Amino acid sequence: MIATLAACQGKPPSSDSITGGDPRRGLDAIQRYGCGACHRIDGVPGAYGKVGPTLQNIGERAYVAGKLPDLGVGEIDARDIAAFLYHQ
Ligand code: HEC
Repeated sequence: MIATLAACQGKPPSSDSITGGDPRRGLDAIQRYGCGACHRIDGVPGAYGKVGPTLQNIGERAYVAGKLPDLGVGEIDARDIAAFLYHQ
């Protein structure tokens, strides 16, 4: 909704308005959920996991295959994490 409004005003939507999340809280959530145990994520200390695919450049991808492992990530946390990843 917010992203649509921004687009209508000729302003490129920011990653924050697309995801509705906060990248700073996203970093915190990523560390709390331990995503780095399985994923390599730039900007996240200790995130060198090799179990899952790297989450670098995820913002450049039009489509994210599969779905998040079922770690019980709440919607707010998921939005924040997405905001953080799209900021990369
Ligand atoms: C126990 C290991 C493990 C943990 C912990 C984990 N992941 Fe993953 N993740 C994987 C594996 C394996 C895949 C690839 C299989 C799939 O796509 O379902 C994957 C796939 C993904 C993908 C899709 C990547 C792509 O290129 O399509 C994203 C995004 C992702 N994980 C994000 C996260 C986030 C965010 C967290 C923390 C909330 C997290 N993962 C925690 C193992 C993990």
